[in-house]
Amino acid sequence: MPDPRPSGTETTAMLGESTAFLDLLEHTSRVAAVNKPVLVIGERGTGKELIAARLHYLSSRWEAPLVKLNCATLTEALLETELFGHEAGAFTGASRRHIGRFEQAHGGTLFLDELATVSLRVQEKILRAVEYGQFERVGGSETLSVDVRIVGATNGDLPAAVRAGTFRADLLDRLAFDVLTVPPLRARTGDVMQLAEHFAVNISRELGRDLFAGFSESARAALVRYPWPGNVRELKNVVERSVHRTPADEPVDTIVFDPFASAFRPAVETAPDAEQGTPPEQASIRLPCDIKTELARLEIDLVQRALVEARHNQVEAAPLLGLGYHQLRALLRKHGMVKSRRRREGP
Ligand SMILES: Nc1ncnc2c1ncn2[C@@H]1O[C@H](COP(=O)(O)OP(=O)(O)O)[C@@H](O)[C@H]1O
Ligand SMILES: [Mg+2]
Repeated sequence: MPDPRPSGTETTAMLGESTAFLDLLEHTSRVAAVNKPVLVIGERGTGKELIAARLHYLSSRWEAPLVKLNCATLTEALLETELFGHEAGAFTGASRRHIGRFEQAHGGTLFLDELATVSLRVQEKILRAVEYGQFERVGGSETLSVDVRIVGATNGDLPAAVRAGTFRADLLDRLAFDVLTVPPLRARTGDVMQLAEHFAVNISRELGRDLFAGFSESARAALVRYPWPGNVRELKNVVERSVHRTPADEPVDTIVFDPFASAFRPAVETAPDAEQGTPPEQASIRLPCDIKTELARLEIDLVQRALVEARHNQVEAAPLLGLGYHQLRALLRKHGMVKSRRRREGP
C-alpha cells in the first residue's frame, strides 16, 4: 500500500500483503483520521511502533511532533517527570525546569509503549491529562493545558490487568476508543519471504555487497516454517545474521536461528537446589505465552544443538536427543530444517 505522505517524514514503509496485515493497515488508516486515543495491542516485535507512526502521519496532526516514551524502562518517579516534566527545585538535583513529553507532544501524538507497566498512581495522572488535557509539572502548582492524542501500546492483556487490579478500568475505557491488534508473524506466514528478502537486500547493501544472491529452497522452507516468537524483529535479526555468515555472491542456505549454537558452548551450571525452582529457560518465558510456539522453539533449539554437537551428522545427532534417525528426520521436516541436498543423508 503506498504511503500518502511525502518522503522525508519519519514513516518506515510497512511490508506485507497477507489479508490479516492489509486489514490492519486499512483499520489503521480509518482510525488515524479520528481524533481519539487508540490502543495498539500485539506481541513483541510485531510492528506496534510502526503502526503508531502510521496513525500519527495519517492524522491531521502529522506536521506536529510524534513523541515516544517506553514506560517499562523508567522507575515510577522518573516516568512521572518524563511524562509531565518538573519545575526547578522540585527535588534534589532538579536544577532546571524540565519539559515533559505531554508538553513536547502538544498538537501532536504521544506514543506510550509498554503501557501495562505503568503504576496506578501515574495512570491516574495520565487519565486526567487525557480526559481534560490538564496536568501540573512535578513540584509545580500551575495547571497546564495541552492538546495531545495518546496512542498506547502493550503486549499484555489490559482487560485482564483491570480484573487483577493493576490497571485502572476508567483509563482503559478512555484509551480503548479503538483497539488495533497486530497479528503475530506466524499468523501471516505469507509475509515472511517478502520481509526476509527486504531485510536481506538491506543488510547486503550495508555490508557493501553488490547484490543479494537469494535464499536456497531449504532456507526458504526453514524461514516459512519457523514460528517466529519474536516476530518481525526476530526475523530481521535472523536474516541479517544469516546473510552476514554467508559468503558474498552465494545464496543463503543456512539460517542461523540461534547465534549461540556451538559445539563449544559452555555447559549451563546448575545450582544444587535447581530441581526445586523453575529451570531458567522456562522462567524466562513470560506469561501469557503461546505454549505451542514455545515448545516448537525448544524443539528447534535442541535439534540445532544436537546437530552442531554431531557436526551435522544426523545419524549421530539422533541419539543425542533420544530419537531414532527417522524420528529426527520427521522433526527436521516439521520445522522446515531439511537441507535441499539429498546426498549422503541416509544412515
Ligand atoms: N510490516 C513491517 N514491514 C517492515 N518492517 C517491519 C514491519 N513490522 C515490523 N517491522 C520492523 O520490525 C522491528 C520491530 O518493530 P516494532 O514496531 O519496534 O515492534 P514492536 O513495537 O511491536 O515491538 C522494527 O525494526 C521494524 O522496523
Ligand atoms: Mg516496541
